[in-house]
Amino acid sequence: MAGVPLSAVADAVGTPAYVYNAEAVRARFAALDAALAAVPHRICYAVKANGNLAVLRLLHDLGAGADIVSAGELARARAAGFPASRVVFSGVGKSADELRAAVQAGVGHVNVESGEELDLLATIAAEAGQQVSVGIRVNPDVTADTHPYISTGKSGIKFGIPTDQVVAAATLIAAHPQLRLTSIAMHLGSQLMDTGPFQEGIRRLLALVADVRAAGIGTVQVLDVGGGLGIRYGAEAAMDPAAFAAAVVPLLAGSGLTLYVEPGRFLVGSAGVLLTSVLFRKHSGGKSFVIVDAGMNDLVRPSHYHAYHEIVELESAGRPVAPVDVVGPVCETGDFLALDRPLPALERGERLAVLGAGAYGFVMASSYNARPRPPEVIVDAGRFAVARPREEVSELFRGERSTPLG
Ligand code: LLP
Repeated sequence: MAGVPLSAVADAVGTPAYVYNAEAVRARFAALDAALAAVPHRICYAVKANGNLAVLRLLHDLGAGADIVSAGELARARAAGFPASRVVFSGVGKSADELRAAVQAGVGHVNVESGEELDLLATIAAEAGQQVSVGIRVNPDVTADTHPYISTGKSGIKFGIPTDQVVAAATLIAAHPQLRLTSIAMHLGSQLMDTGPFQEGIRRLLALVADVRAAGIGTVQVLDVGGGLGIRYGAEAAMDPAAFAAAVVPLLAGSGLTLYVEPGRFLVGSAGVLLTSVLFRKHSGGKSFVIVDAGMNDLVRPSHYHAYHEIVELESAGRPVAPVDVVGPVCETGDFLALDRPLPALERGERLAVLGAGAYGFVMASSYNARPRPPEVIVDAGRFAVARPREEVSELFRGERSTPLG
């Protein structure tokens, strides 16, 4: 990876470990940025996909903005150098403290998702005496073909303001002395492979911008189409940035709006791997198992979404393959990285790479079973460095007391 043998990384930091390829992130960013060159645009990286400070810094240095969903992500983005003005704050359940932090920091757009959130934001902006740029996250009622847990643009799910309430929300914002409506936004879902839903959603957003303008509100400058650009995990074809741009850019031409996109997975997913080692092999009930040292606590996607992640051996490819279940050490039958996967006869201690682990990998890791979270390593131009060390067991019970009542 980027001129570094992954076995050298595994030797240095042990397994399990996440490794991210800076060169691959740069290439993805450049491809999307170039594809969108015909319209004014900003790529606001969705921090939730991979919030490692080194990854954030890399994207910041490339010119990205940041899409965040919590005060924690705001702190991360700022620690990595993002100015608040380049931050979009999304999320269906922001707390008063989080909205206050965003207002005080002066984030670029606070995307509101309900009338009650808008009321709370108005109160907080008035208390702080500060101007706030507000976006309306619309639920455009568009069906996107993806896993139901990550489909977010259909009516009847928790996200966004329904289209028939948008003009009323815009009017409230426009009437408030501290609020200014600057963006109309959507996010249809994640791991989308088709540009059709983006086109449908954008058409609905543009119609709403026209309605809002017709109501005398002329402050909208940004059309935020969310993230969701899909990547290749197995046999599927990734969303091609040129095809995405060809579908989206003509719709915006002449609108006078700046296009915001909020990709997370597209920028970092394929750039990361999870390294793991074979602990044991066994046969049981007519099945073969390979037990590895990474579990569902380290990478939850296979267990949670039945997601497919390719698994490759680091050395000596070309052996005959047979189906095995690749399972972790966690005490749940649902703890697996792959089921019935054709893999070669693996040796004990042999190292494997789980591919496509750069997005929604470490960020969704937990310490379940009191397993410290893995380190994160960044690789660039023939060198590698630990960006975050392996969690210490003592960190797992920091501040905890066995006799809190005395
Ligand atoms: N913007 C908003 C408002 C979002 O909610 C999301 C993702 C994104 C942008 C970035 O989406 P992306 O470009 O990465 O698809 N844990 C799941 C994915 C959850 C995505 C949630 N929202 C997974 O592992 O597949």
